[in-house]
Amino acid sequence: MKELIYANFKMNKTFSETKDYLKELDALLVDEPQKICLFLPYTSLYLSKLYKGEKFLFGAQNMFEEESGGYTGEISAPMLADLKVKTVMLGHSDRKKFGETNLQINKKIKTALRYGFEIVLCVGETRAQRNSGKTKIAIEKELGEILFGIYENELKNITIAYEPVWAVGTGKIADSKTISEAVKFIRSTINRLYSETAGKEIKIVYGGSITPQTAREIYKNKNINGVLVGGTSLNAVEFAKLIKA
Ligand code: PGA
Repeated sequence: MKELIYANFKMNKTFSETKDYLKELDALLVDEPQKICLFLPYTSLYLSKLYKGEKFLFGAQNMFEEESGGYTGEISAPMLADLKVKTVMLGHSDRKKFGETNLQINKKIKTALRYGFEIVLCVGETRAQRNSGKTKIAIEKELGEILFGIYENELKNITIAYEPVWAVGTGKIADSKTISEAVKFIRSTINRLYSETAGKEIKIVYGGSITPQTAREIYKNKNINGVLVGGTSLNAVEFAKLIKA
């Protein structure tokens, strides 16, 4: 499905470059009804307060679990809420490279829920886990730990991004069968952790090296609610093609 489209800029584009980019993308999408949520670097999130249109929403790529205090370099939920940011991405595999644990992501989710944010929660296996046949074990463990203590009625604020770590930023998109199986497995895990309704209703998007050519295949899958796009989203022309695919 093409219900949710997220872009992750990672550490790319200055505030000024992002303003120019938005103008360009907006012009390319004049007849496109689809809303797009852009996960920008913190330095560009002031745009969330400035922007008066309806096409774009702005999200943070991370957020700290505590609300204030001696956490130099971190950004809190109230700081983001004050900029009218409504969405936060948590648990991206780039963050895990910096040592972020499932327990910490779990705390961040609880804080984000307290502040009413929409959450995009990234999960996915590493290349080593896939090669050793441990994809399901890895995803199940990740979801179990990250969602510990989160109530079923809170899942409506959470979208799961299935992002196989080996496909993120590598140019190696997972094939449709791999994506489809993993998404089914995520739904069945949510079934087991919560209920059949929760497994059916939870929103799941795919992320990892998506291009305009591969996006269409993903939109066709009714089990998948949309896409999370990194590299391709940095070029407005390519991203517009992907949105319209
Ligand atoms: P990619 O990134 O599209 O560049 O693989 C995806 C992501 O960072 O979520």
